[in-house]
Amino acid sequence: MYHEKLEKFPQNFLWGAASAAYQIEGGWNSDGKGPSIWDQFTKIPGKTFQGTNGDIAVDHYNRYKEDVKLMADMGLKAYRFSLAWSRILPDGSGEINEKGLAFYENLINELIKHNIEPVLTLYHWDIPQALQDRYNGWESRQVIDDFDNYARILFKRFKDKVKYWVSFNEQNVFTALGYRWEAHPPNLSDVKKMFEANHIINLANAKAINSFHELVPDGLIGPSFGYGPMYSFNCEPENVLATLNGEEFQNHWWLDVYVNGKYPKATFKQLVKLGVAPTVEEGDLQLLQSAKPDFLGVNYYHGGTVRANEIEFPSGDNDAGLEKSFEATDPYLMKPKEEQAQTPEKRMFSNVSNPFLEKTKWGWEIDPVGIRIALRRLQNRYDLPMMITENGLGAFDDLTNERTIEDDYRIEYLRGHIIEIQKAITDGVDLIGYCAWSFTDLLSWLNGYQKRYGFVYIDRDEKDEKALERIPKKSYFWYKSVIATNGQNL
Ligand code: BG6
Repeated sequence: MYHEKLEKFPQNFLWGAASAAYQIEGGWNSDGKGPSIWDQFTKIPGKTFQGTNGDIAVDHYNRYKEDVKLMADMGLKAYRFSLAWSRILPDGSGEINEKGLAFYENLINELIKHNIEPVLTLYHWDIPQALQDRYNGWESRQVIDDFDNYARILFKRFKDKVKYWVSFNEQNVFTALGYRWEAHPPNLSDVKKMFEANHIINLANAKAINSFHELVPDGLIGPSFGYGPMYSFNCEPENVLATLNGEEFQNHWWLDVYVNGKYPKATFKQLVKLGVAPTVEEGDLQLLQSAKPDFLGVNYYHGGTVRANEIEFPSGDNDAGLEKSFEATDPYLMKPKEEQAQTPEKRMFSNVSNPFLEKTKWGWEIDPVGIRIALRRLQNRYDLPMMITENGLGAFDDLTNERTIEDDYRIEYLRGHIIEIQKAITDGVDLIGYCAWSFTDLLSWLNGYQKRYGFVYIDRDEKDEKALERIPKKSYFWYKSVIATNGQNL
């Protein structure tokens, strides 16, 4: 695609930054807050880097005014943050904790006072522990009404103040890490449960979106999906087909449901054969189809590269064929069906490393062009306005003797991605805004406080909270000038 000149960013483009409640707030039991599943999970030995947790985090709960002041000084146009469900409903349902609600109301008022558009996320991974204990959280259909009740409280309370709402943050990530990889709460490795819970979350998402459209007709709501475009390892047709499978299994499996209320057929059939497909009850598809999001939130860090799995699979297209194959000599095929069912994608594709891309210290590919590819693909397939709700670089930062942070590598990362976004806009993509991850440094769920993303350094480490001093990094001043010139000074 050739452009003689890149178009300017739209007027009113939302230059923003993002965060999530558990990662910044602290105050884990302040003012009547109930525990969430993260409050419990992080206390299990060996689960997080050096046993870190969000009990204090970066103490945003007590310092939000100072943080908003830093946003205002930067000229930030939008701030995306999430609400802790158990701060508002300590028991998950029932009595409202007014003090919890007041915290968010004060934060929103403070943002508005400084002309910063609030972008409110309903759920960023921290379901109340009470609901986990009562009925296993997302595994029970009871949660659909409880989530809707929680969402309706917020819609009613903030409908005149908040225009942009995100329903679920990265449903693909928290279901996989929580139900398959034992890396997040509820700490399970059960693929069937993952698909069942995921379906129930889809229903909760749809019901809440319908409530939103009833209660906040002038607002916009959508999920934030962790999108990684899939690349084919090469042009060998088998690999191209595997890439199609990868894109469907990793991405369309969620996005098609959000936007069109349908599961992609090929993946669904595979899951049925392996006995791990979700239980779709009568009326489910109608509910899913009735709730179209107004925009798509896109969290982009990297994509993935895919090739056909070299394992030879038996011919035959039915369960009987599968069963029979277990007598074969191939070590993978000899495994019982349950084990195949735990790795359903093995029959569809395998992930490989991309030799063209460098990686961060944590092994995440750095791929600015991928954000343009992501936006183009999503625009073509779903044709909705989009907002980048997360994008950023996790890095070690050094505090110099002069107490500055010279994070040129972060500037380079962000600049590269923003240029590609501008190209995507010039291509014709409808983008509302860009929220970098993150505004201040914060708790990386599993990587402690050393993996930093913020524009603002927080002087604390794993063992010592110190004074939690806020220090703007070099990237803070760079982004300030990007915002002031509406993206002209990159
Ligand atoms: C996203 C999450 O998946 O990635 C954020 O929405 C998270 O909450 C971010 O912090 C970066 O992940 P990590 O593991 O590097 O902290």
